Amino acid sequence: MGVKTTSQKPSRNLKRKNILSIKQLNQTALTEIFLLAEKMRVIATHAQPSKILAGKIVTLLFYEPSSRTLSSFDAAIKQLGGQTIVINNPTELSSIAKGESFEDTVRTLEAYCDAIVIRHPQAGFAEKAADSTTSIPIINAGDGIGEHPTQALLDLFTIKTHKKSLDNLKGLIVGDLMNGRTVHSLLRGLSLYKNNEIYLLAPRNLGLQKELLKELTKTGLSLFEISSLNQIPSACDFWYWTRVQKERFKTLAEYKKVNNKFIVTKELLDKFGTKDTILLHPLPRTGEIKKNLDDDPRSVYLKTQIRNGMYIRMALLALILT
Ligand code: NCD
Repeated sequence: MGVKTTSQKPSRNLKRKNILSIKQLNQTALTEIFLLAEKMRVIATHAQPSKILAGKIVTLLFYEPSSRTLSSFDAAIKQLGGQTIVINNPTELSSIAKGESFEDTVRTLEAYCDAIVIRHPQAGFAEKAADSTTSIPIINAGDGIGEHPTQALLDLFTIKTHKKSLDNLKGLIVGDLMNGRTVHSLLRGLSLYKNNEIYLLAPRNLGLQKELLKELTKTGLSLFEISSLNQIPSACDFWYWTRVQKERFKTLAEYKKVNNKFIVTKELLDKFGTKDTILLHPLPRTGEIKKNLDDDPRSVYLKTQIRNGMYIRMALLALILT
């Protein structure tokens, strides 16, 4: 197979590489992506699209719903002069509905494009796509409860933009840490940097999987599991709130039991945070952030964080495809 995955060592050279997990990237690669993303911030203001991806076609194959990831990838490719094939809901709207296998779908698309960005409800399916293709890179846009590496890149980039460094951070991550793939990728990203101290707050039974906790602890990342809002440490650099992942529950009743256990309000942020504690959320939010925080200068979730998603994806695609 051309672009192999599992064996891919962390590296800085992204040309024609799959991006399936943050584990495949090292700090040098991240620095390079962030530097280029800064340039993309400027390129995106130009009246004409750049020609960096001229002649390139990228397929966006989304088996799960998406607002930001799909549209920011689409916008990123178009900002760089490339084109997209968007396949939303392929289970109903492509030949998969006629019984075509996942592998055949991916191999077919490989014949028409230069890369596939894939979102799938099952962990491991981005890797499966990479194993099914021989010549084009696969980018994981979220695989079930696995990872969401490009979200982590934009989250890290956002934190770096506001805090200047990704070392020596004190952070709080709240929500469905078991099922939340953005959290898995973000923690792996933070573990590439020095001296970070992260507090984890999840509803009962939705804590980080023990295996991941072990893997992260081994890297030197300091993790502290807390169990109530009152235990939030003072003066964090960032708070990263997430929703409970409704689609991963067997029944609505089970979901309702744990949903919105932890809600962030302005009062809470005033009490435990500082004027510089930034509040991130990968979105969508489903009640866990009060609306009166939207205009708070510390809230970045509907502001820089989503816009950064486009710059990061522009940078990543440019590094992979040119
Ligand atoms: C996240 C996802 O799909 O994992 N959304 C996103 O891509 N910004 C978070 C979520 O759905 O909760």
